[in-house]
This record gives sequence, C-alpha cells and structure tokens, in this order.
Amino acid sequence: MPPTGNENVLVGYGTADDAGVYKLRDDLALVQTVDFFTPIVDDPYDFGRIAAANALSDVYAMGGMPISALNIATFPIDTLDPEILTRILEGGAAIAQQAGVAILGGHTIKDSEPKYGLAVVGTIDPRSIVTNANARPGDILVLTKPIGTGILSTALKRGEITEEQMSDAIGWMASLNDRAGAALQRCDANAATDITGFGLLGHANEMARGSNAALHIEAASVPVLPRVLELIERDVVPGGTRDNAAAHAAFTTFAPSVPSALRIALSDAQTSGGLLVSLPPDRLSAFQAEMSGANALCTVIGEVRSGDGIVVH
Ligand code: CO
Ligand code: CO
Repeated sequence: MPPTGNENVLVGYGTADDAGVYKLRDDLALVQTVDFFTPIVDDPYDFGRIAAANALSDVYAMGGMPISALNIATFPIDTLDPEILTRILEGGAAIAQQAGVAILGGHTIKDSEPKYGLAVVGTIDPRSIVTNANARPGDILVLTKPIGTGILSTALKRGEITEEQMSDAIGWMASLNDRAGAALQRCDANAATDITGFGLLGHANEMARGSNAALHIEAASVPVLPRVLELIERDVVPGGTRDNAAAHAAFTTFAPSVPSALRIALSDAQTSGGLLVSLPPDRLSAFQAEMSGANALCTVIGEVRSGDGIVVH
C-alpha cells in the first residue's frame, strides 16, 4: 500500500494498529475500522452478535467511542433460507444497540458462503488516542477476556463439543469491550490492543515491537476457557492457530516449564477477544474498579520490561 501522505491521518496502516484515526479538528478525530468473517457458530443470531462485537472492538481498543456502522454481508441466497440472513442482521443490530451504535445501512452481495461484519465509525479526542505502541517498561499487562475461542470453534465444527459446551465462549465473544475501552481512558492506560486472529502472542508482539519493549507473560496467569487445553492435547487445533504458533516461535522465548498445550493456546486465533492493556501498576486498582461486575475479566498476565520480543515463563 502506498503511503497516504495526508497529515490528518493520525494512525494509519503503517503501525499494525487496531483502527485508523483521522483528525477532523484539534479536539475531534474519526476512528474507522471494518471486520467481517464466515460463521464460527451454528446459530445465525449468535454469529451476528459475535461479528458485530468483534468489529466494534477495534474502536474500543483505541480508546474510542463507536457511533455508527454499516452492515457488510455476503449470502448464498439461492441455496440458504433468507431468514438466516435476517437472523444474522438481527444479532448484529442487537449488539449495535447495546453499544449505542446506529447502523445506518449496509450492503449484501451473493456469495457461496455467508459472511457478516460491520464497517464502524467512532470518535476520539486526538490527544487521548490509546495505540498499541506506547507500552513502557514497568507497566503491568492486563487481559480482559479468557482465550481459547479458536480451539473451541474448531471443536464445535468437528463435533468434539456440543453447542451447549460452546455457550460460555459464545457469551465472551458476543460481549462488548466497551467497559474496557472506557477504562483505558479513565485510567490513562499507556497502550492497548484487542486479541483477535494473531492470538495473544501475536498481538502482544505487535505491542512489543511498536513500543520497543519486551512483554513478559506469566503463562499460568493467562485465563484459558474450560476444555481448551485438553482439546489441544487431543490435537483439536485450527490451521490458523498452528500457523500462528510457528510464526510466534521467532520472537517468543518460553521457559521450559510452560506446557506445550498452553503454548499453543497462547497462539490461538481469537474471535472478538479481550483487550490487552499496558498500564502503570499504580493505576491497576482503578482499572479493576472500572471493570468489576458481570461479564468482565481483569487479569494481570505479565509486565513490560526493556528489551524486545516476548518472554513466557
Ligand atoms: Co484489533
Ligand atoms: Co480488526
């Protein structure tokens, strides 16, 4: 991609950040992102909820406030009941409403597989953008959702677990990162990103690289969804997660004590994962207070040190 050469672009695609930021005024900027994908659960309504929460997440990960969105969808209208598309869009609309986001319209095209997501517009004060590139040595690292949704989605597709056993993961994937995003601002976090397709280690490495620092992760502290480790031990691992793990080996140093299944889990491609937040230790209790209550996690999983790459121990 050629550089935009536009001075109003405050965050572009050059830094592998979660969303682009375009300055309108000194005190106002747009935060823009788009995300869509194929179904990862059977229920079309749940799929719509998850896809919408996932798309909105990139705005929250910048500390922004999403305000409007457009549906983007593909659908095999000749072979599938159009009611399925209706349910997908209803699921997305429910999450958008929960987020206070107005869906203004959208576009659907015919395709062999259903796909759904949102193009999202948010706002932010340009002076308080939270990028993934400002983690500082001495910071602690907080994660706001458990990992393992890629493993569980694959297990569901292969019939290794039931839809019922998937319900916890669905709940997490459909839950908004809105409170975590607001907490970034209120607690003046140094850096944040959301955990999605590159897995915890991949997104952690983007933060490490962007920040010129090393991220040290305490493997045993990372929250992992139930059944995930035993499924990995039985080789129920999606190709994308395997690819991640191979790529992550280049920048990750594992202590010998970290079990191999857990290493894979740390690379698991997530859908609509939580935020990874870097903040000074003295702001942790304020952050935890913002996050307390149902459907929110606020787990310290490590710290930032000088150096580079990822160290897991
Ligand atoms: Co992201
Ligand atoms: Co994204």
